[in-house]
Amino acid sequence: MNCLSPSILSADFANLGDQIRQLDEAGAQYVHIDVMDGSFVPNISFAFPVIKSIRGLTDRMFDVHLMIDEPIRFIDQFADAGADIITVHAEACKHLDRTIEAIKERGILAGVALNPATPLSAIEYVLPKVDMVLIMTVNPGFGGQKLIPYTIDKVADLKKMIEKTGTKADIEVDGGINLENCTKLMDAGANIIVAGNAVFSGEIGENVCRFLDILNG
Ligand code: DX5
Ligand code: ZN
Repeated sequence: MNCLSPSILSADFANLGDQIRQLDEAGAQYVHIDVMDGSFVPNISFAFPVIKSIRGLTDRMFDVHLMIDEPIRFIDQFADAGADIITVHAEACKHLDRTIEAIKERGILAGVALNPATPLSAIEYVLPKVDMVLIMTVNPGFGGQKLIPYTIDKVADLKKMIEKTGTKADIEVDGGINLENCTKLMDAGANIIVAGNAVFSGEIGENVCRFLDILNG
């Protein structure tokens, strides 16, 4: 199934609750939650108190993207805050397999993310264990960047790898995605589309509907 995962990094934090309700009402299936630690990426965002306080507003899937070093230290706290999916970066984990196991032990979905320059071989052996692979289509850390074109080929290569290995992971893409380039990513094999600026600039509900029209083909 194709799903939209609006990134609340681009939300108006003074009106976060209201904006999350708008996403929900317009039909976005996921809420993408970008957590940054100022070390793995050159920016800091938000974490547990924010996630906890918005958890009561919607039943949509909380898609928590951890851009933090050694995320294994905080898996329980993100699960307790209400994450439905936790995605960790392969580059940020000394023990990627152990980290994925720690997520699965909490009975939630496990994702693994790759920066643009990281080869797919970094996740070859854990592919059968994960529910989702997140291909970063920009260098992580900031909303509103331009998509890096070669990442579209990487999505197509991942799709082939998933088919060849008979595994079932969803393919999520994140960074610089808009109504114009979204179809290219879906054609390459992506089925979970993250969008920050493209959803939160202008009328949120209308933007979500436009994306969903494309996703529902
Ligand atoms: C980048 C974040 C993205 C970002 C997407 O580090 O992981 O989720 O907020 O925002 P846009 O769609 O504006 O690139
Ligand atoms: Zn993200």
